Amino acid sequence: MTTDIASPDTAAPEEAQTRKRLFIKTYGCQMNVYDSERMRDVLHPLGYEPSDEPEGADLIILNTCHIREKAAEKVYSELGRLRPLKEKKDGAPMTIAVAGCVAQAEGAEIQRRAPVVDLVVGPQTYHKLPELIAKVHRERGEALDTEFEVEDKFDLLAPAKRHVEGPAAFVTIQEGCDKFCTFCVVPYTRGAEWSRPVDQIVAEIRALAAQGVREVTLLGQNVNAYHGEAPSGREADGPWGLGQLVRHIALIGGIERIRFTTSHPNDMEDDLIAAFADEPKLMPYLHLPVQAGSNKILAAMNRKHTAEQYIALIERFRQARPGIAISGDMIVGFPGESDEDFDATMDLVETINYASCFSFKYSRRPGTPGASMADQVDEEIKTQRLARLQAKLEAQQIAFNKMQIGKNLAVLFEKEGRKDGQLHGRSPYLQSVHVEGPKSLLGQIGHVEILDASRNALAGRLIGVS
Ligand code: 5AD
Ligand code: SF4
Repeated sequence: MTTDIASPDTAAPEEAQTRKRLFIKTYGCQMNVYDSERMRDVLHPLGYEPSDEPEGADLIILNTCHIREKAAEKVYSELGRLRPLKEKKDGAPMTIAVAGCVAQAEGAEIQRRAPVVDLVVGPQTYHKLPELIAKVHRERGEALDTEFEVEDKFDLLAPAKRHVEGPAAFVTIQEGCDKFCTFCVVPYTRGAEWSRPVDQIVAEIRALAAQGVREVTLLGQNVNAYHGEAPSGREADGPWGLGQLVRHIALIGGIERIRFTTSHPNDMEDDLIAAFADEPKLMPYLHLPVQAGSNKILAAMNRKHTAEQYIALIERFRQARPGIAISGDMIVGFPGESDEDFDATMDLVETINYASCFSFKYSRRPGTPGASMADQVDEEIKTQRLARLQAKLEAQQIAFNKMQIGKNLAVLFEKEGRKDGQLHGRSPYLQSVHVEGPKSLLGQIGHVEILDASRNALAGRLIGVS
């Protein structure tokens, strides 16, 4: 991702130094996308300008994901591809850094397997990047810094220094997770659950709105566990939940749309569900992973809820906001999953009728309880189950998209489309929408009559602008 263009006039005069090129490759979830932006911001005063390609870069950062095996392996192959680039660079050598969850989980292993790496930095210590890079430059040696720090990485950057492109932005409001689902590395890589104070989030969103941002997606590994310090002057209220935060953000001038991701069913508070009924800026889209449909497997996953409880919860959202798009995550082939258990997943999918849903083969993550469970499922069976599940999910997604044909949807235009004269935007349900329209509409919300729908996108005709 190279979405940030840092404008030179924001660098302090004493920082006006030789331009250096920074290439960041982002893997995994939206939180990594957000973290990459913050790393770009923190490095900008040092003279680093974003580059679209690794060739010729002075600093390359791979912002990695550890959630499934393939994600980590991709990092090692990328490092292999980067090696010759590093050797070829004349003069000052290229610095290669590995950040993110693989860095957190296997820092020492990375430096052993890939000596091309100069620097390993975990998700909690990005604010130390300038210092770590300086150290590498001084010594051309190795630095390892993946300790969880008490210091707040978000404090480092004044909100006004965040640079975004386009009218939709991610904002991390919560990090880490205390749920310990038995398949998941997040509690180990991102640490304990932690919420940013309301004031800090509001300051960041105000600054984004001033740059033309109209839509914010509030991020957290377990975002609905949010319990942030109340705004100053209102500390006596105790920590705020996500519903209260959403309503508060809705009051910020310029912010027209609010989304959040990802949630856990057991942390859903009534006020957040109510916000779907009475806060029109909260978009009608909910990503609420369930992971499996069999109560036996849900228990083995340590989800601490049943399929029936999940179905009842989704029903409450549908009552609060009729037509809401429901999205989820599913894992097939968790240890002990029988044909009957898998059928229960298919039944749950049938009942929920997802607008979109991500699905994965279970991947054994070292250090998680699932990895050492008996009854690991054969890869071939996982492959077959995933294909059956994905066929069903795809049919549901197509049906949901086709339901929009003939409707008039509010679309936030985010960027130019691939074809000349085309704009790309998002519907309230997070669908991609393509229309013909002038560039002047970028950043605005338009009304679009939907004429066609496929699995991944809608196409329509511009009717007007709000
Ligand atoms: N194997 C497969 N999928 C996983 N996920 C998390 N850990 C694993 C794993 N070990 C999936 C879950 C989660 C999403 C982000 O990734 O569905 O919700
Ligand atoms: Fe991982 Fe989500 Fe479970 Fe936390 S709630 S352990 S992040 S799957």
